[in-house]
Amino acid sequence: EDRLRDVADERDFEIGAAAAAQPLRTDAAYKKILRNEFNYVTAENALKMGPLRPDEGVYDFNDADAVVDYARANDQSVRAHTLVWHNQTPTWFQEWDYTAEQLQEFTREHVHTAAGRYRDTVDTWDVVNEAVADDGTMRENLWYETFGEEYLDDAFRWANEVAPDTDLYYNDYGADGVNVKSDAIYDLVERMLDRGVPIDGVGLQMHALHEKPGIDSVAENIRRFKDLGLDVEITEFDVAYLPDDDPGDQEARWEKQADFYRDITEVCLDEGVDTMIVWGVRDSDSWIPNWFENLTGDPLLFDSGNDPKPAYHAIKDTL
Ligand code: XIL
Repeated sequence: EDRLRDVADERDFEIGAAAAAQPLRTDAAYKKILRNEFNYVTAENALKMGPLRPDEGVYDFNDADAVVDYARANDQSVRAHTLVWHNQTPTWFQEWDYTAEQLQEFTREHVHTAAGRYRDTVDTWDVVNEAVADDGTMRENLWYETFGEEYLDDAFRWANEVAPDTDLYYNDYGADGVNVKSDAIYDLVERMLDRGVPIDGVGLQMHALHEKPGIDSVAENIRRFKDLGLDVEITEFDVAYLPDDDPGDQEARWEKQADFYRDITEVCLDEGVDTMIVWGVRDSDSWIPNWFENLTGDPLLFDSGNDPKPAYHAIKDTL
């Protein structure tokens, strides 16, 4: 039977998965699925600031290189995640009493070093992640509090300086359909474009968890970002249910889940989105059970026994 990645290749479609370094060292079944079924890979954690910067003045590229090297060895494109984000920053950094000038220099150096290192091996960077709050205001993170929204401009410009051929993305969750948050992101990236910032696209995470966006609303949202001249990618797809929406037995849940994956795949094809990345390989690799105890814990395309689920077939049949 055809592999998912071959079906995707034929349509010029990128089907990706978030990968972790640890199972790449120890888990043959995991590696086999990742290389056989996906033509695009992103690092689930390894390229975040915390893992990359264990101590002041110290970089640790071991895990990041493991993911990037595995992908390149298997002829997969790579999406890097993420340069500037308020979460998963290093502990020493959280305790650091910086001046504005020091924070700017630190951030510039980080962006230059990380984006520069992977300039030839990474296709896309999430330059800034989750800068907008759920109510549509700018998230009050340390960069915003220190510099205002122009911290995004700086990050994109610094990335562009060292990695001019890499696609540079703004990425966020809960902004998949048209809503107050995606309205704010639309306005934000429009202002950035007006200021001449080198931004190439917007990543819609598509963690379809507590709420699922309406399909037409997702299509409309994608269209408006594309009308700005930006690309759109689905960057962190997974589908889980609250008890009220859970059909109860596994078979029914997996069918319902497959329908949602199918619908979004169709929207991508209809709206010219050529990249969809799921947030993990197997259900047993998913972050959901660790983070949301009230959600169903099987949000991905492969079950914990390494077998493809209905969602896998739904995507493949749609492509
Ligand atoms: C998650 C990872 O999956 C977890 O392993 C980690 O403990 C926390 O972060 N939005 C993002 C991702 O942009 O980086 C997050 O990844 C999930 C939500």
